[in-house]
Amino acid sequence: EKGGYDHFMLKEIYEQPRAIKDTFRGRLRTEQGIIKMAGVDQNIEKFLNADRIIIVACGTSWHAGLVAEYIFEDLVRIPVEVEYASEFRYRNPVITEKDVVIAISQSGETADTLAAIKLAKEKGAFVFGVCNVVGSSIARETDAGAYTHAGPEIGVASTKAFTTQITVLTLLALKLAKHKGMFSEDKFHEFLTEMENMPAKVERALQSNALVEIIADVYKDSENCLYLGRGFNFPVALEGALKLKEISYIHAEGYPAAEMKHGPIALIDEHMPVVVIAINKGHYEKVVSNIQEIKSRKGKIIAVVTEGDEQVKELADHVIEVPETMESLSPLLTTIPLQLLSYHIAVMRGCNVDQPRNLAKSVTVE
Ligand code: F6R
Repeated sequence: EKGGYDHFMLKEIYEQPRAIKDTFRGRLRTEQGIIKMAGVDQNIEKFLNADRIIIVACGTSWHAGLVAEYIFEDLVRIPVEVEYASEFRYRNPVITEKDVVIAISQSGETADTLAAIKLAKEKGAFVFGVCNVVGSSIARETDAGAYTHAGPEIGVASTKAFTTQITVLTLLALKLAKHKGMFSEDKFHEFLTEMENMPAKVERALQSNALVEIIADVYKDSENCLYLGRGFNFPVALEGALKLKEISYIHAEGYPAAEMKHGPIALIDEHMPVVVIAINKGHYEKVVSNIQEIKSRKGKIIAVVTEGDEQVKELADHVIEVPETMESLSPLLTTIPLQLLSYHIAVMRGCNVDQPRNLAKSVTVE
C-alpha cells in the first residue's frame, strides 16, 4: 500500500510529478491555446466581473491560498484577500454579491472552511471550491469548483495536496488573465508550456533527496528553525515551517525575508538553522543580502537556489538546487526540498511521520 516507501508521506512527496500532471491533464490544452475548466467556463462572468477574490482555507491549504494571492494579483490584476476560515467566519466580514469566494480544502470536510462558505453564500457571494476529495461536504456546498487530482492523501502532513492546489489555482489565474486580455498569445503559450514542463522539473527537484537527508542529519537535534522567503516564495517559507513543526515537533517559524530585521534576527546565533529560498528570480539580490545578515550573526544557512547558482553558494552552509522556472511557478519546485527536509528530520528523531501526535487528517470540529 505504501508502494515500497517507508511512509505514506514519502510516497506522496514522490507522487507529485504524477499528481500535478493529473491535475492539469485535460484542462491544459497548449496546442489549442486554451485552458478548459468546466466550473469556471460555466460561471465566467462571475469571475470576470468580480470586484475581488476572497480565499478561505486553513493550514497548508491557506498557504496555497497565499501563493494564489501573489499569482492572481500578478497575472489577473484583481485584488485578493486570503483569510483563515476560522477568523473570517467570526468577524462579521464585509462580503457582497460582487465577491468571488474560493474555498481551498484537501479533505473538503474542514469545519471552519465549511462554515465560512455557508456564510459567504448567505451574503450572496459566488463560492468556488478547490477540493481533493470528490463529493466531500465543501465540494457539495460550493456553487462550482475544480478538483485537484492528487489522489488519496493518507499522510497527515499535506504534501501533494498543496502542490496540486497551487496547480489548479494557477490554471484558474491563467485562464482569467487570458479572458481579460492581460497578456499576449506568446506569453500565454509560454506559461502553458512551462506548466507542462513542471512534472519533469518536480522530478528533478526530487533528486535533491540524498543531499537533503545529509543536511537533515546535521540539523536533526536543533530546537528551532527559521524559514525565509520573499514574494511568491514567502508562503513556501510558511509551509516549510509548518511541515517541520507538525511532524518533527521542532519549533519553526516562517517569515518574509525582509521582516527578519524587525524582530526574528534577534534569535540568530550559531545554533539557529535558517532555511532561505533564494531562487534567481524576483528579489534575488535582496535575499542575498538577507543571507549576508544571517551569516554575519553566525546563523547556519540552508539555501534553496536555482541550478547553477554561484553567489549564494559562496555564502550558504548548504545549497539545494531546484530547476530554473518562471518566478510565479517556482513554489511548485522550492517546496519539494522543504517537504523532504521535514520528512527526514522527523524520521531521524523517531517521530510518527504519518500520524503526528495531536493531529487528525481532517479537522471536522471547529
Ligand atoms: C498540514 C495539514 C493541515 C491542513 C488543514 C486544512 O499539513 O495537513 O494544516 O492543511 O487542516 O485541511 P483541508 O485542506 O483538508 O481543509
